[in-house]
Amino acid sequence: MKILSVVGARPNFMKIAPFIRAIEKYNSGCEDKIQHILVHTGQHYDLRMSHAFFKALSIPDPDINLEIGSGSHAEQLGNTMIAIEKVLMKHKPDWVVVVGDVNATLSCSVAAKRLCLKVCHIEAGLRSGDMTMPEEINRLVTDRISDLLLTPDRISSANLLMEGTPEEKIHFVGNIMIDTLEANRDVAASIELSSIIGKNLIKGVNGNLPTLTDNNYGVITLHRPSNVDPEDTFRALVKFLLNEVAEDLRLIWPIHPRALKQIKTIRMWDQVISHPSLILLEPVDYHEMLRLNMGARIVFTDSGGLQEECCVLGTPCLTLRWNTERPVTLREHGGVSVLVGNNLSRIREEYRTTMKLKRTPSRPELWDGKTAERVVNKIIEFTYRGKKVHES
Ligand code: UD1
Repeated sequence: MKILSVVGARPNFMKIAPFIRAIEKYNSGCEDKIQHILVHTGQHYDLRMSHAFFKALSIPDPDINLEIGSGSHAEQLGNTMIAIEKVLMKHKPDWVVVVGDVNATLSCSVAAKRLCLKVCHIEAGLRSGDMTMPEEINRLVTDRISDLLLTPDRISSANLLMEGTPEEKIHFVGNIMIDTLEANRDVAASIELSSIIGKNLIKGVNGNLPTLTDNNYGVITLHRPSNVDPEDTFRALVKFLLNEVAEDLRLIWPIHPRALKQIKTIRMWDQVISHPSLILLEPVDYHEMLRLNMGARIVFTDSGGLQEECCVLGTPCLTLRWNTERPVTLREHGGVSVLVGNNLSRIREEYRTTMKLKRTPSRPELWDGKTAERVVNKIIEFTYRGKKVHES
């Protein structure tokens, strides 16, 4: 059997790493091997946004890189479809496996289905209900056309059923990101905070830094267009973080390229880099982010992946969004995260409450570090339905 899997942007890499390892494990125990081809669309291309993750997570170099790069959504989607179609026509895989909700997920699943290839979506069924989010459109289209929908939680399976997806296509397998977290916990725990700061500090940032210890710092990540692109919204968020939160505790901000560009555009750069309590870093690698999360008193984020990691690690988390496609991570479902949108009085109020909370890890069902093996088994089962698997 030939499987072609696709990655495009940073949050895909931690989802594909355990899948590749599960294929290797499957191949080591059987003669009827899976041939795997890894395609990188090249949506994220920086050393720090892409290559560092391949290295840290021991992902083999992609067999094919489409080198799509930046652009408007239509450019990224269109260019990826044109390029992946040629690859799919040449390799004719039995399965195209896509993960998550980035532009690569949508464009490659559509191109594959136009060639009548089978598509498996890992992390299917997530719904924020927010049609202004590009990722929500990517999820809806990908799920509608996929043949095998592998969900991370029961709410996602229920979403798909509610939309009319045939039940036999939906399988609850757990959260593949947590496989990566569990496999890398020990390495992350052994990293010194000072070495993360030393390695990643942005040039020009106030170098006179305080010593950091666990539980005396917060972590910020922001990249969603809805928070970063509107000048007034982003300015107000940054001011709040600088003038109010950074008064109470050190803040570490590994900054996404979109946010970095915007800070300079709105002329807050000098204020940000000279603040004595704000530590601005380049995007950090997987283990470093995990380490920062493990010792953080609080996380401010608009990333879906971070919400999930906070949940398993127990880090109190303020999610700077009005909705989430990952409700199992919310406090009302036993998780650690609370939705605060980008309204300052709401953020301020929840910030005060959250600072009183203790680290409380929680583990949703099947977030057990073994999802990738279930994924490979489901693909095998689905392929050989009615046939014997390893007929010799
Ligand atoms: C993308 C995903 C989002 C994911 C996020 C994580 C979609 C629709 N969005 O958003 O779901 O949570 O990645 O990072 O697919 N840039 C660089 N270097 C890079 C990559 C990007 O400088 O390696 C710059 C681009 O030029 C662009 C900006 O960062 O100006 C945003 O990149 P883009 O790929 O458009 O989307 P993200 O906001 O990263």
